[in-house]
Amino acid sequence: MLSSHSLAALLLGLSLPWSTSAQPSPQLQKRISAAIKAAAHQTNPDYTAFVNPFIGTDNDGDVCPGASLPFGMVKFSTDLTGYAPAGYVANPKEKIRGISPLHDSGTGSSLGTYGNFEIMPLLCPKGFDTCTTTLAARQRLRKLNTDDASPGYFAQTLDNDIKMEATPTRRAGLERFTFPAGSKPYFVLDLANDLPVSFAGGTLDINPDKGRITIGGRYGSSFGPGRFNYQAFACYDLLNGGKQKLSEYGVWTGDTFGLDAKGLGQTHLNLTLNLIGGVYQSGALFSYDVTPKAKPQIIIRVGVSFRSVEQACANAETEVGSATFEEILARAKAEWQEKLSKVEIDVAGTPANVTEMLYSSLYRASLTPNNATGETQGVFEDTSAFYFDSLYCSWDTFRTFYPLLALHSPVEFAQIVDSYIDGWRKNGWMPECRANNLPGWTQGGSSADNIVSHFAVNYHNEAERLGINLEELYSALLADGELNPPEWNIEGRQINVYKQFGYVPFAVLDVSSTGRQTREGSRTLEYAFEDFGIRQVAQLLGKADDVQKYTNRSLFYRNVWDPTVVSDGFKGFPQKRYSNGTFAFNNPVDCSPNDHNSSRACSLQGSNMNGFYESSSWEYSWFAPHDTAHLIELMGGNVTFVKRLDHFFDAGYYLAGNEPSFQTPIGYHYANHPAKSVDRVREVVFTNFDITAAGLPGNDDQAAMASLLSFHLLGLYPIPSTTQFLILSPFIPKYTIHNSFLNVSTTVTTLNYDAKSVQKTIPPGTAAYVQNVTVNGVPSPSRCHFDFYDVFRTGGEVVITLTADKTAADDCLGSLPESISTGGFAKAR
Ligand SMILES: *[C@@H]1O[C@H](CO)[C@@H](O)[C@H](O)[C@H]1NC(C)=O
Ligand SMILES: *[C@@H]1O[C@H](CO)[C@@H](O)[C@H](O)[C@H]1NC(C)=O
Ligand SMILES: *[C@@H]1O[C@H](CO)[C@@H](O)[C@H](O)[C@H]1NC(C)=O
Ligand SMILES: *[C@@H]1O[C@H](CO)[C@@H](O)[C@H](O)[C@H]1NC(C)=O
Ligand SMILES: *[C@@H]1O[C@H](CO)[C@@H](O)[C@H](O)[C@H]1NC(C)=O
Ligand SMILES: *[C@@H]1O[C@H](CO)[C@@H](O)[C@H](O)[C@H]1NC(C)=O
Ligand SMILES: *[C@@H]1O[C@H](CO)[C@@H](O)[C@H](O)[C@H]1NC(C)=O
Ligand SMILES: *[C@@H]1O[C@H](CO)[C@@H](O)[C@H](O)[C@H]1NC(C)=O
Ligand SMILES: *[C@@H]1O[C@H](CO)[C@@H](O)[C@H](O)[C@H]1NC(C)=O
Repeated sequence: MLSSHSLAALLLGLSLPWSTSAQPSPQLQKRISAAIKAAAHQTNPDYTAFVNPFIGTDNDGDVCPGASLPFGMVKFSTDLTGYAPAGYVANPKEKIRGISPLHDSGTGSSLGTYGNFEIMPLLCPKGFDTCTTTLAARQRLRKLNTDDASPGYFAQTLDNDIKMEATPTRRAGLERFTFPAGSKPYFVLDLANDLPVSFAGGTLDINPDKGRITIGGRYGSSFGPGRFNYQAFACYDLLNGGKQKLSEYGVWTGDTFGLDAKGLGQTHLNLTLNLIGGVYQSGALFSYDVTPKAKPQIIIRVGVSFRSVEQACANAETEVGSATFEEILARAKAEWQEKLSKVEIDVAGTPANVTEMLYSSLYRASLTPNNATGETQGVFEDTSAFYFDSLYCSWDTFRTFYPLLALHSPVEFAQIVDSYIDGWRKNGWMPECRANNLPGWTQGGSSADNIVSHFAVNYHNEAERLGINLEELYSALLADGELNPPEWNIEGRQINVYKQFGYVPFAVLDVSSTGRQTREGSRTLEYAFEDFGIRQVAQLLGKADDVQKYTNRSLFYRNVWDPTVVSDGFKGFPQKRYSNGTFAFNNPVDCSPNDHNSSRACSLQGSNMNGFYESSSWEYSWFAPHDTAHLIELMGGNVTFVKRLDHFFDAGYYLAGNEPSFQTPIGYHYANHPAKSVDRVREVVFTNFDITAAGLPGNDDQAAMASLLSFHLLGLYPIPSTTQFLILSPFIPKYTIHNSFLNVSTTVTTLNYDAKSVQKTIPPGTAAYVQNVTVNGVPSPSRCHFDFYDVFRTGGEVVITLTADKTAADDCLGSLPESISTGGFAKAR
């Protein structure tokens, strides 16, 4: 999804003002470049040293650079003022409010998410009662060019020279604060100021003997109905196993209207929702006795839980115990090394920027969703299933995120699928956009269908061993396909009228659903592809009647195709449609980057009249990933299709940062012009991605963007809910994918690779186009696509031979990628 912020900037054609002065420390890039250079001579390089966690922390990338384990529930990051949904932003004009343990990465929320339990180190030279405890009083600028992070580590220094560092376990971690010489360390701990300003009451208790503060309460959603609340708790151990000594402690309250009160020696707060005047700010304030003159260093152990303060403390005890900062960091780094080494590359032969983009992307592609197994609440409280939070959102992640996980990490994928299915068990429908343990807004329908079906078609032989019952998975799919939920804005689909009319009608009497009727065009297109996902599993399980039925329904995308609409000389566009069959015209340009009407609502707003979610009809007109062959016919044949694709990019309708556009650059494959896809993907990558903090074309969307970039660099593109990969030209001369569950490794060698081709425009005469492909010595029947079962499941050697002869290479020399209407996807593998 696009953030509302970036969408506004885009529609106004603004470039954001601070992009040039971004952080982090210049030392970070020097360190990464040196590590990549050194790795050219190493056999087992430290892949964590290639990761730049700050990519996507500017330009509204909404990436959290905080310290986290792979899929960690805890992500320690500072929280900054201004537009900072993931906590940190690179913009040095924004101030630091504190450091806190809960964050999401790549959120689309303009409100921000989590940021509960901020702790802020303070200097209070005039003593306890003068400490700057409220949010406005305590926030400070950073010391420039000192922000630092690496997998499992985050550090930032305040402009008063207090350094803050953190390192995580799954649900806990250590924070380390270094104060200027001679100062007395003070800390404010905040109960009520989370990032979305959603506090709905909670408690805080100081146990001075134990040196422990327990804290927790109820908070609200970042991307969902504001009426829902979740609970979160933390446990702060202040004494570092007895090596530190508290001096003063107490509580404070404050507001923005003059209240600024401290209670020295008081140990308990119990707040309800404040009904007048915004957040009733409050928390703890404490200081330490330290040796005068030394540079005081304070270590605080933090545990987090979504169940209780007791469990938060237990998490800190079991996961951190008495380990040192260095020990926790070393464990975190080792976990990351294990994840990152699932993809190994020829570092010496790969351009350094490509290496950094790839490993930073692979890092983010294992950063979320947040593993909150054992930390469940509400209807999930007693579940025995795995549980993941920040499924943010399925509409973003089904396209590339889960297919990347499927390539190398079926165990993790299966756990997340289990969590989706458990949503159906407990709620009646699988989650669409679970965030903050709450249901978030639906974007395209029930995109979980394309996630769990992708798992099923790729791993049905191992499903049972991976803990997934396929019949149960299928029942969860059927709930989405058949059962009308009371409110389709948070789960399921507006399915009754869709079934009745063959599309989601505009302005229809729907007595079975509540829900603002918008986005009828894009919802129909997404519902149809979700039906394709159901069809794929029906085929796998031999349910012949359902295969028929859902194959038909997967073609419903055709029902919103208005063949009469013309834009820029091209004919035929999806449009929303009344229940009587008449189309309701919207200009296909509306809500595209070429629409300069900044007052038009294009997103989730109730006032979105455009018919498409965060997109134009131009952009969504390419979306039928299972039936592109028929789309080509609808558009008037191969020649017009290719011209129209060229125009789409050249005229500026393409939105690199928007999920419905992900597959479009490779659309040429379907018209038998694979070399044109190669050119387009090079252009897309080098126009929109780089290794700077502003190096993403907008919101990372729970690493949807990161996983897309990973596939582009590997020269692959996955078709969701299938086992098919489109073949492109790798940016890397040689790589190996390890699948440690299947116990296979697959090495892809790019023969005639020329690093000169790895730029925006491939220089004429440079080898970059696919001449032929062999898999374990056998020529691939097409140079446009191959299958997971024949390649990455089998393992072995893939050789992609490149040529500079673009004309000769611009043909699949064999079958086109599959489409339903030309007999594709006829059998389950
Ligand atoms: C907080 O106060 C509410 C009533 O105001 C009470 O029901 C609740 O038990 C109190 N909680 C704690 C932990 O003191
Ligand atoms: C999630 O946490 C559970 C409980 O610790 C663990 O068994 C599982 O392997 C974790 N999964 C991932 C993907 O991190
Ligand atoms: C599917 O569509 C075909 C052709 O439109 C039709 O003949 C058939 O009855 C449909 N099958 C089902 C199960 O809806
Ligand atoms: C269908 O309904 C729309 C909206 O009420 C109306 O404008 C249109 O004329 C109707 N079409 C037909 C063929 O009745
Ligand atoms: C801009 O969009 C708004 C909302 O759709 C619409 O009311 C207005 O007429 C449009 N303005 C122009 C100049 O098209
Ligand atoms: C497009 O080209 C392919 C292969 O060259 C051909 O099989 C297909 O029929 C063509 N499609 C149309 C609509 O002409
Ligand atoms: C690597 O990326 C940096 C930052 O975007 C850029 O300045 C530099 O030109 C790139 N180097 C190459 C060789 O592309
Ligand atoms: C992979 O190897 C491990 C250890 O040898 C074994 O336990 C596991 O069953 C193997 N997996 C498959 C899919 O063969
Ligand atoms: C692939 O192309 C290369 C270069 O033209 C050629 O030498 C080789 O024989 C081809 N391999 C196959 C399997 O066609």
